[in-house]
Amino acid sequence: MSLNMNTELKEGEVLLQAEGLSKRFGGLQALSEVSFSIRKGDIYGLIGPNGAGKTTLFNVMTGLYIPESGRCLFAGRNLTECKPHQIAESGFARTFQNIRLFGSLSALENVMIGRHVRTHAGVLGAILRNRSTRQEEEQIEARAYELLDYVGIAQHANEIARSLSYGDQRRLEIARALATDPMLLALDEPAAGMNPSETVVLRQLIEKIRGDGITVLLIEHDMKLVMGLCDRVLVLEYGKVLAEGKPTEVQHNPRVIEAYLGAGAAKELGITVEEEQA
Ligand SMILES: Nc1ncnc2c1ncn2[C@@H]1O[C@H](COP(=O)(O)OP(=O)(O)OP(=O)(O)O)[C@@H](O)[C@H]1O
Ligand SMILES: [Mg+2]
Repeated sequence: MSLNMNTELKEGEVLLQAEGLSKRFGGLQALSEVSFSIRKGDIYGLIGPNGAGKTTLFNVMTGLYIPESGRCLFAGRNLTECKPHQIAESGFARTFQNIRLFGSLSALENVMIGRHVRTHAGVLGAILRNRSTRQEEEQIEARAYELLDYVGIAQHANEIARSLSYGDQRRLEIARALATDPMLLALDEPAAGMNPSETVVLRQLIEKIRGDGITVLLIEHDMKLVMGLCDRVLVLEYGKVLAEGKPTEVQHNPRVIEAYLGAGAAKELGITVEEEQA
């Protein structure tokens, strides 16, 4: 099965561009002037210590929070003026750090709900259930099943979401996000709560998604996963961009090492400040 691909933008062209995004919560500057761009076809990593602003950045980009300044351009469209459902319709899908599934609905139904972003029947159609609505529902169900198979949990299609293992719930969230036919899939800590073998399977899944033409934005604390998977990495600290570049560049950046391991860590590792990336 293949996933939907956007053919307008070519591989390597800028798909998402964030320009000077700032977000404040009372006295806390959660994001300040965050700028970066993601090219189509990349797996783009977003890392940083707890509280750095990673999830806030997702929330600003997907319309849950309105930034005080800055804008986010996605496939040429300014997302900053859009509502969350419009952003999803434009091809930007996400998962949540705190899993957001309908716990008492089946895995299949959860994915079918995701698919409704791309359907036409609407509420009235769903109530009247005419022939075309029924046909559409059948197509949605078939597609949802395909997506469960794609993420490797088709055997749980009819189980209620909350009965699934944590790792399977994360994969179900990915299937639900994929049901919107995204150009960009943003994952907020998809490996959280997964055991090492589940993480290996997740890594393969993310590579498969990218292989099917979907650009991936990945928040993750598992450094091995981030550094092994990502083409580029953005590091946030206290809401500011600390570094941006290829995984190897970022890994050797003394400011990044200090942010993770504490002051003096870079020096102890023999990395001098001259090596710092711009
Ligand atoms: N809705 C909110 N209201 C007030 N403060 C918030 C809100 N959301 C986030 N914050 C604060 O903003 C800062 C950034 O939080 P955020 O959740 O974006 O961090 P994070 O990088 O995702 O961290 P983690 O790795 O722990 O998930 C934190 O200090 C957090 O307490
Ligand atoms: Mg977070």
